[in-house]
Amino acid sequence: MQLAGKTAFVTGAGSGLGREICIAFAREGAKVFATDVNAATAAETAAACAKLTTGAASAVCDVADSASVKSAFARMDETVGGVDVLVNNAGIVHSDPAYLEHVKSIQAAQVMEMMTEGRVKTHARTTELITDEMFDRMLRIHLYGTFYCTREALPRMRASGRGGRVINMGSIMGTASLGGAPDYCAAKGAILAFTRATAREAASYGVLVNAIAPGFIDTPLLVNFDDANKQLIAAQTPLGRLGTPAEIASAAVFLAGPGASFMTGQTVSPNGGIYMSQ
Ligand SMILES: NC(=O)c1ccc[n+]([C@@H]2O[C@H](COP(=O)([O-])OP(=O)(O)OC[C@H]3O[C@@H](n4cnc5c(N)ncnc54)[C@H](O)[C@@H]3O)[C@@H](O)[C@H]2O)c1
Repeated sequence: MQLAGKTAFVTGAGSGLGREICIAFAREGAKVFATDVNAATAAETAAACAKLTTGAASAVCDVADSASVKSAFARMDETVGGVDVLVNNAGIVHSDPAYLEHVKSIQAAQVMEMMTEGRVKTHARTTELITDEMFDRMLRIHLYGTFYCTREALPRMRASGRGGRVINMGSIMGTASLGGAPDYCAAKGAILAFTRATAREAASYGVLVNAIAPGFIDTPLLVNFDDANKQLIAAQTPLGRLGTPAEIASAAVFLAGPGASFMTGQTVSPNGGIYMSQ
């Protein structure tokens, strides 16, 4: 029971990593406040947590909208109490079919050229195809969302006198890169920088801020990867497979718990060895 007596606000809690983190926190005795832009899936997560801990609740929270974030924190104050742990996890990938088709066809052409001619001749041009709206949405959900929630959590943690933990979901794409998603890479890189800056700022009142930078983890986020893509990723990963949500949740439990008491401003990267430097 590493998190007994703690309360946790988790974003993007209706699916994948967010849901698994909520469940792992509940198993460790935390009160979990599961939030998501999708109210129904957040409620499902809270119901799963309620079987493991007391005090699980949920709320709708669109992290891209500061008013929605504000009202979700107010709801947490009323229902669960203060916040000891914030997990900024909500995220998206591109879903525009024309854009995705472009990326897929370019990548297929480049693979063929590499195999037959030993070099790439087809230019990716993905940055040129990202519209203002696409870029804005990507940054808004990942980076602004992390900022909005952190801005709500820090004064509450300071006022409690108990300190706290903030865990930001980065990605190996914040330091390495991924063809076809320059805006995703930019958002994740900015989150890692924001992690370090807020860690320095909040240390004086006992709030430790760290990031998790997962490699490829099998969740609904990988909807654009077919089986062949996943096999290719597994083949490039020294540990020979994609990760599981539980393998990210265990890193979150560590960063939220007593074992991480001397860690702040750091990035923990469970990635199977596909990327070995942060
Ligand atoms: N799965 C991976 O391979 C992987 C790797 C590295 C980083 N990540 C990051 O982990 C985080 C979680 O991803 P996942 O794999 O669990 O994806 P997922 O698609 O399974 O879950 C994402 C959740 O975020 C929610 N969400 C989307 N927009 C939102 C918004 N505006 N406000 C609140 N919630 C919103 C969705 O409803 C969903 O429940 C993301 O930040 C993602 O970038 C995932």
